[in-house]
Amino acid sequence: MDVDVFTLFPHWFDWYRGQRHVTNALALGSTLECIDPRTTTPLSGGAVDDTPFGGGAGMVLRVDVMERALRERYGKDPVEVREERRVIALTPGGRLLDDALAIELAGEPALTLLCGRYEGFDQRIVDHFCSDEISIGRYVLAGGELAAMVVLDTVLRKLPGALGHVESALEESFSPALEGAPEYPHYTRPAEWRGWTVPEVLLSGHHEKIHEWRREQSRRRA
Ligand code: 6GU
Repeated sequence: MDVDVFTLFPHWFDWYRGQRHVTNALALGSTLECIDPRTTTPLSGGAVDDTPFGGGAGMVLRVDVMERALRERYGKDPVEVREERRVIALTPGGRLLDDALAIELAGEPALTLLCGRYEGFDQRIVDHFCSDEISIGRYVLAGGELAAMVVLDTVLRKLPGALGHVESALEESFSPALEGAPEYPHYTRPAEWRGWTVPEVLLSGHHEKIHEWRREQSRRRA
């Protein structure tokens, strides 16, 4: 998967890029590139945002600035780019991210994530350049960068080979394999600690019973 992140803070992603499942995904052929709209802005002084029409607090990311950044990156009118790849605006009011959406996005060959700052995007950016609006929860972050990392975290770990074990992503919380329920509890050594024991069935070596117990625990947590 080829991922482009449009952000005014590209260096924020330096740390992110070093995380294990991200480096795994990159080693397996995926790409993650950050594009800073400030480097291509047509405005003087590196300006990218402006005060909102109608008044109010904060600054709004300008449509002409995003158009230039997208046009430079893809070599065409950005209204055509969203026909070819998902172009996602990260906004607090967007479609709520869940496991089903992560699976859907993991099936895409390419993603473009647009991070807003301050009061967000001029609505024309969302209306004309984007195919999707995604939110990671009903609260407001100072910008879309953390949300973009959350989206990519859950999407990249779905890609084949990103995790050490394929099964890790199969039977995890909220997955279709668990019928959307939270995951069952895990235990490891020591089998007893301060009198706290591990469920007997997990030590039994009886795979069928273990499987049944886990499903039941998962269902109970739902
Ligand atoms: Cl995607 N962006 C911002 N700025 N705040 C958020 C969000 C996104 N999702 C939840 N809060």
